[in-house]
Amino acid sequence: MCRARVAAEPAPAGIPVSYRPSTASVNSHMPDLPLANLRVLLGVSGGIAAYKAAELTRRLRDAGAEVRVVLTENAARFVTPLTFQALSGNPVRSGLWDDAAEAAMGHIELARWAERIVLAPASADLIARLAHGLANDLLSTICLASAAPVALAPAMNQQMWAHAATQANVETLRKRGVAVLGPASGGQACGEFGAGRLLEAESIVQELAQLHGPKPLAGCRVLVSAGPTFEDIDPVRYLGNRSSGRMGFAIAQAAAEQGATVELIAGPVHLPTPPHVTRVDVRSARDMRAAVMERIEHSDVFVSAAAVGDYRPGETAAHKLKKHGSALTLTLTENPDIIAEAAAHRARAGRAPLFVVGFAAETRDVEKYARDKLARKNLDLIAANQVGGGLGFDACENELLLLWPGGSERLARADKGVLAHALLERIAALRAKLAPASGPRPRSAKNAARRSRR
Ligand SMILES: Cc1cc2nc3c(=O)[nH]c(=O)nc-3n(C[C@H](O)[C@H](O)[C@H](O)COP(=O)(O)O)c2cc1C
Repeated sequence: MCRARVAAEPAPAGIPVSYRPSTASVNSHMPDLPLANLRVLLGVSGGIAAYKAAELTRRLRDAGAEVRVVLTENAARFVTPLTFQALSGNPVRSGLWDDAAEAAMGHIELARWAERIVLAPASADLIARLAHGLANDLLSTICLASAAPVALAPAMNQQMWAHAATQANVETLRKRGVAVLGPASGGQACGEFGAGRLLEAESIVQELAQLHGPKPLAGCRVLVSAGPTFEDIDPVRYLGNRSSGRMGFAIAQAAAEQGATVELIAGPVHLPTPPHVTRVDVRSARDMRAAVMERIEHSDVFVSAAAVGDYRPGETAAHKLKKHGSALTLTLTENPDIIAEAAAHRARAGRAPLFVVGFAAETRDVEKYARDKLARKNLDLIAANQVGGGLGFDACENELLLLWPGGSERLARADKGVLAHALLERIAALRAKLAPASGPRPRSAKNAARRSRR
């Protein structure tokens, strides 16, 4: 059962974070800002997105943080320290070999001062340096010398991001507990299209607020299914679908960041396991069903984000099928309906009922099909999304329409990590209403309500 989330509301309802004043003295009177009085060291590395760190500096201060900026020497070729000095209200450092600052071991002082290190944009090179524990410039030295949690927002050409070396470095850092925010995908400065864009400043602040804030899902056991299922036709062929698993993995990661104990049942995907998440790999719909049902009794929330194949071949050939010069007919058998079966296990003695969340990925009539699925499968909430146009399957971004009995909320196009946090806020709000015994209405309920008014 989810424990109560007793915390101050992060911002007065209806006042966008960016419009609020950003002086430290005002912040100290506004402890309800999402990053109130948090000492953030913003590390900016050398990439074309470095200019966006100026906006991020403002947004961090608007959210209540005290910000000190460190530029790498290459970042200082893209943007000037003076810009960040003006925006942060603090001196900016760049080189390690600064006689005046280092007279008092300035890099160690900064490393100790920081309560959170945010690297945005994080270049491929900076990510590689951190993954390998290098300390050959001021920023990497501070990162190594600091006990503060690190969040990084990568920004680079899509090919650099997809490169196995970068992915391995990112995975190493994730395993060490570094929070990786984004990247988003879309058009790039180099003219290419794909994953590697810096998350918008507002999204970075939102994600930091989630990392920094109270853990609304502490004590809650969340079961998430993600990815496609593969149904074998013979030893070398299968029926599958184009689900990348990213939405489900983002939900698992967000739930863990919000304090939940998370089990992730993953179809065949090549995604790194989010930190603090227990992962079980499966292949077919029947494997997934078995893994889900084995865990459903001890779960409080089940988010079924997997794209489970509706059908499987009636039988799997023991040997590779051969051409015979004529059409081949496959007879398909319906797969188990995992979410409907899970929903049937909703009631449990002495504790809040299981909260069941489904997804509806559709190419047309999204809302109509989603409403039908919500009612037919007796779900508590459904997240509907249009597939195609760079959204939904095999994409980093999505756009969700949340529907539940008696309400709805539209979540605008955003990185799946950002959407995952918003979805969990809505789940927490609805659970609190359904099961008052599970604790007072959490702070997130107000957040969710505020967003739905936009
Ligand atoms: C015009 C230009 C744009 C660049 N943009 C990026 C970028 O967006 N992301 C990236 O990882 N590297 C980019 N680079 C390469 C980095 O600047 C280079 O790897 C550098 O060593 C990074 O240093 P730093 O991590 O110390 O800041 C760019 C280089 C140039 C010349």
